[in-house]
Parts: sequence; C-alpha cells; structure tokens
Amino acid sequence: MARMPVVARGCLARAAVARPTIDFTRRSASDGIGLGTWSGVVGSGWWASRGAHGTPPVSLGATMTAASDELVCVTGATGFIAAQLVRELLGQGYRVRGTVRDVARAQAAFAEAKLPGRERLELVTADLTEPGSFDAAMRGARCVMHTASPYRIVVKDPRKDLVEPALNGTLEVLGAAQRAAVKRVVLTSSVAALTDEPDPTKKLTEADWNTKSSLQRNPYYYSKALAERAAWDFMEREKPGFSLVAINPFMVIGPSLTASLNQSNEVVRDVLTSKGFPGIIDIAWGFVDVRDVALAHVLAMTTPKARGRYICAAQTLHMRDVVKVLKEARLDQRYRVPKRDLSGAFGSALVRLGSWFQLRAVGTYLRTNLGRRPELDNRKIKRDLGLTFRSVERALLDTVNNLERWGHLAGQTAVTQRGLR
Ligand SMILES: NC(=O)c1ccc[n+]([C@@H]2O[C@H](COP(=O)([O-])OP(=O)(O)OC[C@H]3O[C@@H](n4cnc5c(N)ncnc54)[C@H](OP(=O)(O)O)[C@@H]3O)[C@@H](O)[C@H]2O)c1
Repeated sequence: MARMPVVARGCLARAAVARPTIDFTRRSASDGIGLGTWSGVVGSGWWASRGAHGTPPVSLGATMTAASDELVCVTGATGFIAAQLVRELLGQGYRVRGTVRDVARAQAAFAEAKLPGRERLELVTADLTEPGSFDAAMRGARCVMHTASPYRIVVKDPRKDLVEPALNGTLEVLGAAQRAAVKRVVLTSSVAALTDEPDPTKKLTEADWNTKSSLQRNPYYYSKALAERAAWDFMEREKPGFSLVAINPFMVIGPSLTASLNQSNEVVRDVLTSKGFPGIIDIAWGFVDVRDVALAHVLAMTTPKARGRYICAAQTLHMRDVVKVLKEARLDQRYRVPKRDLSGAFGSALVRLGSWFQLRAVGTYLRTNLGRRPELDNRKIKRDLGLTFRSVERALLDTVNNLERWGHLAGQTAVTQRGLR
C-alpha cells in the first residue's frame, strides 16, 4: 500500500459554524422490506493522496446548516452522481475520501472540475471486485456513500460485468464500513430495485421490490435489486454499528463534472439526436436532476429520522414531453430531434417488432417499458429529508448544455448529419 504525501488537513473554523447534532444511531434495516440471504466476496490494495484546507461552509436552507470537518467516504468518486456528491460535500465543508479505480485519471478529472474545497478531497484506489479493497479507504470515516456500481445496459457478461461487482461490492463495502466503525452508510440504489416493468395503474412506493429481473432480463436492474436486498439482509444479519439509508433514483440527468458520458445522460443525447430512436415512442422516464440526487445523499446522512429507502425522482415525462421541451428551446433547429410519432398503437406494434432485432439488452428493455408509464410516489423523500426537486425541464436543458460543453454532440447537428431540414 502506498500513500501519497499529505499536503495539509482540512482547516474549517469549527467554532464559527452552527452545526446540528447529527444522529447516526443504528436503526434496524428497512421499511418492512423482505430480506433474503446473499453472500459474496470482494477487494484489496490502495494508495492515497491528500490535499489541504477548506472553504467557508454554505447554508443548506431550512433543513440544516452544515459544516463539518468530518470525513465522508464516497465510493466511485468520479462517477456522474458521485462527482456531484463530492462537490456537494466539499461545499458543505466535509472532508471527502473518494475511492476510484484509477487515481491518476481521477486526479486529472477533479483538477479540471476545480471544485471549491478540493483541498479537502483525498483519492484512494479501491475496486468492487477485489476482496479487502475498501478497508483502508474507510478508516476514520463517519459516513460512507456507496455509489460505485457498474451502470450499463449492454454488457458482454451480465454476471461478471454487472451482478458480481454490484452485489459482492456492496457486501464488501458494508463489511469494511462495519470494521471501520462507520456510523451511517448511504447506498445509491435505484428505482431498478423497485420495478422491472412499471405498472402504469399503480404508483411505485418504497414498499415495492423488483422481483422480475434476471441475468437474462434487464440484468442491470437485477444487479441493483440484488445489491440493495443484500444490503438490507446484511443489516438484519450482522446488526452492525451503523445505520443504512438507500436512495433510489430513477433517470438521473443534469450537468456532469467530468468528460465521461454516463448511461442516463446518453439517453438525453440519443433523444436529442434521434440516435436509436426511429421516432417518438411510447416510453416515459421518471427524471431527477443529478444535483438533487447529490443533495439527497447528504440529507440522508445528516437527517436523524432518515430511514429505509427513498424514491428520488421529480417527475415522469413521456418521450413526447421531452421532445416538446427540446423543441421549445429550439434545439430542433440544431439537432435531429425526433419528429415521427410512433407512440400510438400502430407505432408501438412496429417498435415492439423492431425490438426483436435490437441487441438483446436493448430489446428486453423496450419490451418491458414500452407503454408502461412509471408513476412514482416521491412524498417520502420530500417529507423526511425536506428535499425539493428542481425543474426537470431545466435539468434537460442543462444536460444539453453540458453535453455540448464536453463535446458529446460534436458532429451530431442536424446540419452536419442530414443537411438543413
Ligand atoms: N444515472 C442514473 O440514472 C442512475 C439512476 C439510478 C441509480 N444509479 C446508480 O448510481 C450509481 C452511480 O451511477 P452513475 O450514473 O453515476 O454512473 P457512472 O458515472 O457510470 O458511475 C459508476 C461508478 O461506478 C464505478 N465502478 C464501476 N465498476 C466498478 C468496480 N468494479 N470497482 C470500483 N468502482 C466501479 C465507476 O468507476 P470508474 O470511474 O473507475 O469506471 C464509476 O465511478 C450506480 O450505483 C448506479 O446504479 C444511477
């Protein structure tokens, strides 16, 4: 294990800041969630770098005023959601230890992001598939935010590429948290752990569990359902000294702090440019801004009464609503925004037929989501955590700006692709 030199420590003026008493008392697992038994192995080997001191704390508004030089460990720190979470934590004055697979790449990404308070960010290596990998990363941390998990719809080997890192990695992270006497773990789960094919006649709540996905059918969903179940099962079985809170976002969009294009923003890119969409199809997503997801994680850490799972989605939009937002912003003058309406019965029959000629994962996703508008009950997160959601329309447009900023739309304009329409 190698550790890069410590430059300096966080130096927030504790006394100058009103801090709430954060109750991290252990709670039993869930909201009456059914528990199964899972076992797994994972991780080893890490090294670290550390930077210097802090920035003034920021007010969180009604819920609390936070500032702390307490250490929070964020797994998968360069991920789309995790990087915004790191930004939120640093902004609130926390020290952050981020685990990544490639420290040099992560250092470059965070250097470019120029986050205020980045002197309090430390990066260490850890891999979900290496046993023991997270032990050192969690030493001294009061809270762990476990966001790392492969998020891809199309993979070669669903077991190896999705399920094993998600499931074994979660158990590894929880085991390391237990050994490090962490007080709370916030798990980035997903609506995929709630449902495989939404039921438009019923609002999804935190009591729902996805029991349909499998290695063959929506394996990413399967990986998230298995990982979250295993986490609650761990809590029941091990009764560790920490409490667990799960955040279950739906389709997370918004500005990325790094150049890589994650799966959910890729969907916005694809709608904007008609990539893979022959027209407007009968599909809908529950959107949430990545900055809200980041804040939800921090509130889940600091809110004493936070308990169980939290659906984290602002609003469900049909693809035709998404296209409307893009058109109202006149983006159809620059990009090939879908025009043909395939959302009726005939169009859906065509899309369903076409789904059998797609890559298996894409085809399955289409067949299990077509015509099934997900309705979500997000009252619990608003009530318990005091989260207010940003406008989804704004988030969509911010996503487009960000896609342009990182060059993900280069060569995708209507002009370069098809000539002016
Ligand atoms: N985006 C969404 O719409 C959405 C919705 C619901 C839930 N989620 C969940 O949110 C979390 C983050 O998603 P995201 O959208 O931010 O995706 P992302 O940008 O692809 O981030 C995934 C992160 O997981 C890390 N990771 C993957 N395999 C790993 C392994 N074997 N060992 C260590 N780290 C590994 C990646 O590290 P590298 O950088 O090294 O690849 C990356 O940091 C995931 O748990 C995902 O399931 C996302």
